[in-house]
Amino acid sequence: MGGEAKEQLVIRGLHVAVEGQEILKGVDLTIGRGEVHALMGPNGSGKSTLGYAIMGHPSYEVTAGTIHLVAADGGRRDLLAMEPDERARAGVFLAFQRPMSIPGVRLADFLRHAVTNVRNPDRKEGEELMPMKEFRGELKAKMAELSMDPEFSRRYVNDGFSGGEMKRAEILQLAMLRPKFAILDETDSGLDADAVRLASESIARIGGAEMGILVITHHEQLLEHNVPLQTHVMLGGRIVESGGPELAAELHKRGYERIRSAYPEAAAVERAMQDEKRAAAEPTAV
Ligand SMILES: Nc1ncnc2c1ncn2[C@@H]1O[C@H](COP(=O)(O)OP(=O)(O)OP(=O)(O)O)[C@@H](O)[C@H]1O
Ligand SMILES: [Mg+2]
Repeated sequence: MGGEAKEQLVIRGLHVAVEGQEILKGVDLTIGRGEVHALMGPNGSGKSTLGYAIMGHPSYEVTAGTIHLVAADGGRRDLLAMEPDERARAGVFLAFQRPMSIPGVRLADFLRHAVTNVRNPDRKEGEELMPMKEFRGELKAKMAELSMDPEFSRRYVNDGFSGGEMKRAEILQLAMLRPKFAILDETDSGLDADAVRLASESIARIGGAEMGILVITHHEQLLEHNVPLQTHVMLGGRIVESGGPELAAELHKRGYERIRSAYPEAAAVERAMQDEKRAAAEPTAV
């Protein structure tokens, strides 16, 4: 990657509906490799929905807009035309807010599959996995770097993991997969203060110049070692304001009242979305 140009994840005019209800109403966001962006916003504003839409979760229907990987030479790949596994092989990674457990599958085996697939994008199912010895060596080194007990990788994926352990497993995945673009959805939730600090340091060490990171968080501690180039605020399914790291600090300290009064239209959409949810949940009157 010489010169000024770098690969970017480019989202334009993205609208996303879930179960027929429009959640995202026109999101524009550009993340370059080597950049950290923070995404904040009140509960239910659509942050996780954006992550799922980028990864291609089938419940999240893109009704308008585009998502492209734009190479340094200007070459464009249409992410929306790819299946979720192709998106992962193209170098896009989502650390879930609520990761799934896979009882019976050990974390190490899961990682060996994932790493093999991401590193050999043309591999067919059933073809050789990355050699065990090489994989084990790499896993051991990464776990040591992240101060993780090597025994941890023998446990079943997220099965009976504490909240903190789940988040640690996601960070280990991030370290092993080394995606081009990572969306970290509340990687700090459920972590105690020391664990958030460790997570923040680990992400900074893994990220570096090669990775573009979107950090979805309600707190600024995770950003301590990952100072965002930009902080974006989502309200009512749109990014209403972008600023620097000081914006994250302000929102953490003072909440979203200033944002709601500054963007009354988006605040009205937020209220309407909540009313719609409530109406859908109530039993229909006869
Ligand atoms: N799979 C789903 N089924 C039904 N509703 C959904 C689904 N996913 C998202 N929604 C709805 O979309 C809206 C936005 O949810 P989303 O999870 O994106 O918010 P968020 O900004 O990540 O909130 P939080 O800060 O609480 O994590 C909410 O009203 C939510 O209930
Ligand atoms: Mg969320």
